[in-house]
Amino acid sequence: MKGLILAGGKGTRLQPVTYVVNKHMVPILNRPMILYPLETLKHLGATDIMVISGGGHIGGIAEFLGDGSEYGVQLTYRVQKSAGGIAQALGLAKDFVGVDSVAVVLGDNIFENAKLPKPPKNAGKDEAFLYFARPKDPSRFGVPVLKGSNGRVVKIEEKPKRPKSPYAVTGLYIYPSNVFNVVANLKPSARGELEITDVNNWYIKKGRCGHAVFKGFWSDAGTRESLKQVIDWAYKA
Ligand code: DAU
Repeated sequence: MKGLILAGGKGTRLQPVTYVVNKHMVPILNRPMILYPLETLKHLGATDIMVISGGGHIGGIAEFLGDGSEYGVQLTYRVQKSAGGIAQALGLAKDFVGVDSVAVVLGDNIFENAKLPKPPKNAGKDEAFLYFARPKDPSRFGVPVLKGSNGRVVKIEEKPKRPKSPYAVTGLYIYPSNVFNVVANLKPSARGELEITDVNNWYIKKGRCGHAVFKGFWSDAGTRESLKQVIDWAYKA
């Protein structure tokens, strides 16, 4: 399984520091944010990793992480010219992933890795696999809609005003290599981005999307409030 860290985007919610520093290099105490998703991929067994970021910032990330050997991984870098969405960034890894499966993690997602369950065997073979969590405010995230007594996932709604479940889809996804055909057929959303939620809904519609509910600490770190929450957790951990 290959690994992919998506570290592009504009980081507008953490301005002004993100005028000069990539969001994923913002420190969580003394460690840049990007080391956390890197360790998440390592925990899942993916050590051949591509890092994708915007052209203006990728130099700083590469300067820090280098070839990855210091962290026990092998790194490749690719530029996302403009912030066209998470799924657009994923599409840039097509040749890197080839026929393998891929574990994708958003560069601002922080997981308590020790508690992160490994995906089942069929994840990334013929099925996508997602990790859900129970955040304070699901309306900031992709929210799964569940049906029936067994809680079957029927779709995911992106940032719904009224969330239909208490769960959020975290920024950690396992896909088979056919994900690149799905990305190639996406249309931009109302906010002009290729949405990862549309990718996940494609697998759900086909009945090919598994999930686990993650019980450890999870948060994004892309807002002042969530960054503070992550720093508080890291200080105690
Ligand atoms: O944190 C989990 C959430 O992440 C999911 O629940 C949502 O379904 C998903 O859409 C995403 O929501 P956000 O609105 O929080 O995503 P954001 O635009 O903040 O981007 C998150 C990361 O994705 C960011 O740290 C870097 C990467 N990214 C984002 C964009 C828009 C890219 O690499 N390229 C991009 O063009």
